Amino acid sequence: QAGDWWRGGIIYQIYPRSFQDTTGSGTGDLGGIAQRLPYVASLGVDAVWISPFFTSPMKDFGYDVADYQGIDPLFGTMEDFDWLIASAHDLGLKVIIDLVMSHTSDRHSWFRESRASRANPKSDWYVWADPKPDGTAPNNWLSMFGGSAWQWDARREQYYLHNFLSSQPDLNFHNPEVQQALLDMARFWLDRGVDGFRLDVVNYYFHDRELRDNPPLAPGLRKADTAPAVNPYNHQSHKFSKSQPENVAFLERFHQTIAPYGASVVGEIGDSERALELLEVYTGTPGRVQMSYVFDFLSGTDLTAARVVDVFDRLTSQAPNAWPCWAMSNHDVVRHITRWSLPDQAAKAYATVLLCLRGSVCLYQGEELGLPEAELRHEELRDPYGIEFWPEFKGRDGCRTPMVWDMGVNGGFSTSQPWLPVPHTHLQRTVVAQEADAQSMLHHYRWAVGLRRKHSALRGGTMTDVMAEGPVLSFRRMDDKQTLLIRANLSDDEASGLMPWQVQIIEG
Ligand code: BGC
Repeated sequence: QAGDWWRGGIIYQIYPRSFQDTTGSGTGDLGGIAQRLPYVASLGVDAVWISPFFTSPMKDFGYDVADYQGIDPLFGTMEDFDWLIASAHDLGLKVIIDLVMSHTSDRHSWFRESRASRANPKSDWYVWADPKPDGTAPNNWLSMFGGSAWQWDARREQYYLHNFLSSQPDLNFHNPEVQQALLDMARFWLDRGVDGFRLDVVNYYFHDRELRDNPPLAPGLRKADTAPAVNPYNHQSHKFSKSQPENVAFLERFHQTIAPYGASVVGEIGDSERALELLEVYTGTPGRVQMSYVFDFLSGTDLTAARVVDVFDRLTSQAPNAWPCWAMSNHDVVRHITRWSLPDQAAKAYATVLLCLRGSVCLYQGEELGLPEAELRHEELRDPYGIEFWPEFKGRDGCRTPMVWDMGVNGGFSTSQPWLPVPHTHLQRTVVAQEADAQSMLHHYRWAVGLRRKHSALRGGTMTDVMAEGPVLSFRRMDDKQTLLIRANLSDDEASGLMPWQVQIIEG
């Protein structure tokens, strides 16, 4: 039914800082997104997923929220948001917004109150823990951004948990008041007309309290040796977690909140080892989240046909009822054109495969232009994750540079100095230039999206006979109306004489 647009749907991810600037600030804004929605609609996608635009000190560029119901002035006003929603709906586009519920910014009024004392209405809204007798952190848990997951607070003389930056304190989902506040917030946005949510790190909401107080020890270590240095532990992967059932119970409550609006959810499962198992738990049973994107195609320095076969074999065995949302690029990883060193022809073959897969699909802004990762100098970096770990890890700015529209100043993105530079390699791949070139990446993406829209088997059909013959990946998509055979040469070996891709209608 109409509510199931997401099953097999295509979502276009917009990074608002870098899509279109209309205020001369050098960063993108909501008015700019509204202005460019006709272009997004022309791609044939079903929905846009907009990364956070809420009030934020921007330490993690919006994934550190200081007011869940406030639009950061950098991006505009609530009127701009309402205009964006109206424009999108006029164009038949759904709007998904990015809810970052696992943590807030340390500037959020909730945290300001919570940290003020050990006995205030919000003192238990975050994860606080006493130091060990020697004053060190409560246990050996690690932040995803490196170092201990615990930050000392001098006023409460306690540590608070943060899975990312220390300015991103973790909300305590074990507290029903926190759950209620977040459900009320989701309803606020549903009442403003959003069609769904992307749930940031959907498997991180609950920390395991027993695990917190009795952290696992690496072999041979004594109880006292649970400091991060000697026994680092990435607790987010919930390997030993007993809190997953509580996480699922919250997702069921969240679903009950959004279901009356016909809204849908795409979860981000932040886990490498157990992503498919969690995908089955979260999306394989109705009433939790409709889809979750997995990281199999968001990592790795190549994506061979054999690896695609392996992913689908594991999916079939570990997550037979799941509904994955596939993506090759997003705002957190090196753009796949660069990550997999793809010449344009190969990139078109990969895009064809992506848009023929069973599941839902996310396209990341600029991917349809074949944009490579931007090479930035150290002094141009803005992402704390990159600045901290340079040069081993260059951070995430390289995939977050401005969208390039035309041959105007800064690719038509902004008349002011953009917050990240527009690489000259991107200025050769603008939307206007590619509209004029029938062989462009842009036209190929439009063709592949059109293929998926045209063939019901590509959206909801089965996916069988997934095989690799050398570099060639092949698989069948079938529903009660038709059977399609897809073959693609997933290599940059254009000399192989193999068809780069082929989509055959076997019957129907
Ligand atoms: C987002 C990252 C962010 C992190 C912390 C991830 O899911 O995609 O950009 O830094 O969550 O919110």
